[in-house]
Amino acid sequence: MTGRWWGPRAKLMRHFIDLASAGRAGLRAILDEAHRRKAARAGLPKGAPDADAPLAGHVLACIFEKPSTRTRFSFDMAMRQLGGSAIVTAAGEMQLGRGETVADTARVLSRLVDAVMLRCAAHATLEELGEHATIPVINGLTNLTHPCQAMADMMTVEERLGRPVDQTCWGWVGDGNNMAHSLIEAASVMGFELRLGVPHGYDPDAAVVATAAARGDGVDVMHKALAAVDGAQVVVTDTWVSMGETATKDKLSAMAPFRVTPELMAAAAPDAVFLHCLPVHRGDEVVAEVIDGPQSAVWDEAENRLHVQKAILLWCLGKIG
Ligand code: CP
Ligand code: NVA
Repeated sequence: MTGRWWGPRAKLMRHFIDLASAGRAGLRAILDEAHRRKAARAGLPKGAPDADAPLAGHVLACIFEKPSTRTRFSFDMAMRQLGGSAIVTAAGEMQLGRGETVADTARVLSRLVDAVMLRCAAHATLEELGEHATIPVINGLTNLTHPCQAMADMMTVEERLGRPVDQTCWGWVGDGNNMAHSLIEAASVMGFELRLGVPHGYDPDAAVVATAAARGDGVDVMHKALAAVDGAQVVVTDTWVSMGETATKDKLSAMAPFRVTPELMAAAAPDAVFLHCLPVHRGDEVVAEVIDGPQSAVWDEAENRLHVQKAILLWCLGKIG
């Protein structure tokens, strides 16, 4: 027998605040685990635990500063399927809402639960939580990024197209927002091609693009929708008005030429998949014919939030990768 079986055991603890810190091997391990677990539990009732219940006895705190449907239900179900449980709460119902510091909240949660998922506006709040927590902190969306959604998107593309994500080419059309940022990061870490067609004035954050460019070629920002999706195997968009933002006439009219229509889909590859993180505004960023049509993978994409987040939780707690 090698090693000691007594004494303190080193516990692996990883945050999932951005995609790059997991690296290509980490993200690959998460995607592989998600595909494997999804297949292994086919046919089980949704609330039944996976056969190995790898997080039995573990609790995840889910804290929301902003509304959510998919993130809320998928993280709660993920913990149930892994054999653990979740405590879901609005940030405003915590002492955080009365001014208790993020650092003190991190210290207290680290004593009471095994991991925290936070959805908040300022990315700095999430980073501060991560800095002071001794348990994994998971990004459930900030104004800057939405990495869990990008993971579900990659999983869905691999499922639909039957090949690894690094052998695919994506066209983003619309706002240069938090989803665009996480897909830029995903493309540069995993090595797939991503063209972004965005209106002038609504470009993704320059620092996010520069960081991706420093990792290599493959991310290209342009100002034409057609050029962005030309021959792409994935067409992806998001709402024109994100949570906490006010719609302006200027923005809506700038976005109009970036609407996903059957004509735009026709410029993509014949087997192209359409993605949208949801919620959707039919008739704005995409017409009903596309999102409710045969090329749309949005319901698989929403379900895959569950499967990929189970793998993210296992990775954060040192059970895989
Ligand atoms: N896509 C997504 O994160 O959805 P929710 O806002 O409903 O969580
Ligand atoms: N860009 C959107 C994503 C919602 C899941 C928002 O931040 O509102």
